[in-house]
Formats: sequence, C-alpha cells, structure tokens
Amino acid sequence: MGLILGIETSCDETSVAVVRDGHIVLSNIVASQISKHAVHGGVVPELAAREHLVALNPVVHTALDEASIGFEQIDAIAVTCGPGLMPALLVGLNFAKGLSLQINKPLIGINHFIAHIYAAFLDEDGKKTLSTPDIFPLISLVVSGGHTALLLIDADGRAKLVGTTIDDAAGEALDKAAKLLGMGYPGGPIIDKIGALGNPSKFNFPRPLTGAAGKALPEEHKYNFSFSGVKTALLYHVNKAENRLDEVFLKDTAASYQEAIVDVLCRKTIAAALEFNAGAIVVSGGVACNSRLRGELTKRAGTTKLLLAQRKYCTDNAAMVAGLAEHFFKQGKFSDLNLDAFSRLPQITAAPFVL
Ligand code: KG4
Ligand code: ZN
Repeated sequence: MGLILGIETSCDETSVAVVRDGHIVLSNIVASQISKHAVHGGVVPELAAREHLVALNPVVHTALDEASIGFEQIDAIAVTCGPGLMPALLVGLNFAKGLSLQINKPLIGINHFIAHIYAAFLDEDGKKTLSTPDIFPLISLVVSGGHTALLLIDADGRAKLVGTTIDDAAGEALDKAAKLLGMGYPGGPIIDKIGALGNPSKFNFPRPLTGAAGKALPEEHKYNFSFSGVKTALLYHVNKAENRLDEVFLKDTAASYQEAIVDVLCRKTIAAALEFNAGAIVVSGGVACNSRLRGELTKRAGTTKLLLAQRKYCTDNAAMVAGLAEHFFKQGKFSDLNLDAFSRLPQITAAPFVL
C-alpha cells in the first residue's frame, strides 16, 4: 500500500497526481496546452516538450499542496514512459528521474495505454469492481487520439489484443474532421457538442470493416478498425456541398460523421463481447468522453456489464498513471535510471493490475 506521485507528459497535457493505494485520488492536476497547439491545428511535439518543461515544477507542487502532503511522505514516483510523443515523454521521464534521485524515492515506469485501461478502475468503486470475478474475461475498448484498440483480459491478468486500427485512431478522425469543417481543435469535444444539435441519420457515412454496404469482411479484420475512408468520404461530402456550408448542414454533417464512428466502435465492441463471452465491457481513453458513444454503448450493451471510465479519467491524466503504479509498487517492481521512453505501443500480453 503506497502513496504514489504520478507524472504524465505523453502528449499535450502536463498532469501530476497523488494516489493512495491505487484507488484513492488525493489530487489530479491537469495543465492543458490546448491553446498553444490550437493555432497550429494539432499537437506540435517540440512545443509540447517546451511547455511540459515550464509547467512540471509548479504542477507537481500544486498536486502535493492539494493532496496536503510533502515529498517526504511519497513512497514512489510513477512516470509515463510511452507510448507517446518522444520529445514530450522525455521531459516527464527525465524530470521524474531527477526527482527520484533528489528525494531518494523509487521510480516506476508506466505504459500509458495500460494506464488508460486502468482509468476505468480508479477510485473506490473501481476497486470493488476489479475484485468482482464475474467481470472476467472482459473486453476493453481503448479509444483516444493515439489508439483505437480492443483487448481481451482474463481473470489471471493475461491480455490479448483482438483488434486495432489499421490507419487513424478514432480521436484522430474526429480531430481531422473538425479541422476540415473549420470547427477548431481539438475536434472530439467540438464534434460532440455540435453533433448533438444535428441529425445523425441525415448523411450516410461509411462504416469501414463492418461488412456493411455488402462488402465482405475478411476474418483478420473482424475486430480491426479503419477510419481513413470515413475521413475521405467527409472531404467529398464537403466538396460536393461547395458553398452550401450553412449552420444546419454543419450540424447534420458533424452528427452523421460522429454517428459513423460511434456505430463502428459500438458494433465491434459488442460483437467481441458476445464472441468472447465477456463479463464486462470496459471503455476508456479521450474519445470515451463522447456523449453519443456513452449513450449508444449503454443502449447496446444489453445485459453485459458496462464500465465507462469517469470522464475526468478518460482524457490524459496522471491519476491513472499513479493508480496503475500501485500494482508494481506492491510487488517491489521498480525501474532504474536507464528507463527509456518509447513512442509506439509494444505487444500487450498482460494487464498488470489484474492479479
Ligand atoms: O486520451 P487522450 O487525452 O490522449 C491520447 O492518449 O490520445 O485523447 C485525446 C482524444 C482527442 O482526439 C480528442 O479529440 C478526443 O480524445 N476527445 C473526444 C472528446 N473529448 C476528447 N472525442 C470525442 N468526444 C469527446 N467529448
Ligand atoms: Zn492518452
């Protein structure tokens, strides 16, 4: 049982949290850089790194103050080491190493992707759920700006990737669409808001790799995702409309485009849950904030237990990092100062928090 300081800098949020025993979130500070990147229409890795450097020290102190603790009470420092943007990751990682040396506390390197899965089990309710055997095997959908993946997780902690995107992530598809529609950055929350005001059945965007539209679905893509075709369809749709881009058209377009993405995510997730006889469906990552996705999954999950991560733990945050680290801390599994950052998702074979 430990008191862990978590540090997250994999993309454009500088976040620091203090979490006790893996579930009690004492503080979770998120300093967003969105305004700095918005002018560029997307995240600029070097700019993100510079901003993390400026923000980290004050954010660490705010997190400690909010948790009413000092460095001496911390048992370990957890830090995201990948996957993510290398320049951004390196700032957090090197900061954590320096802090670990300075205050003489062990370091725990955390996989950001697994931390997203764990986010659905943070807090006391999450702890109870995790100790319920009938949620296994579970199907986990991680849907963010960098990932769209389905995993099967067994009661013994073994994990298997059953599907992933073969091109864009769902969040990326939403961000790019909003950019194309001139709605701003980041697109996910904007499309969520504007789409709620439009008609989701007004325009019919493709549902790639679902077997819809009479196209045969190869077995190897049964649980894979592809969103680049939906994006191309949007481009044609906008070009065809020429100068008729009025408010109603934009609302209906946002709603229909979002619907295509949500529909694909729901279909694949529910189908996987049925095929693998899942006890629960667990959904997390930034796009899991999406109102339409949450609503549709709730409708379509039927009798299968649905665990949606709380919105505040869906987008990048350090609470999920510090929480997951408890499971390494308990076993005395620490990282050394050679700990490296990595940009791409390695093969996932275990969900370490399920033990
Ligand atoms: O998990 P996250 O903060 O960072 C990554 O690890 O990628 O996810 C960011 C993504 C962005 O693409 C953003 O547009 C999307 O999550 N997002 C949303 C919503 N809020 C954030 N997408 C749809 N609806 C939302 N409400
Ligand atoms: Zn993330």
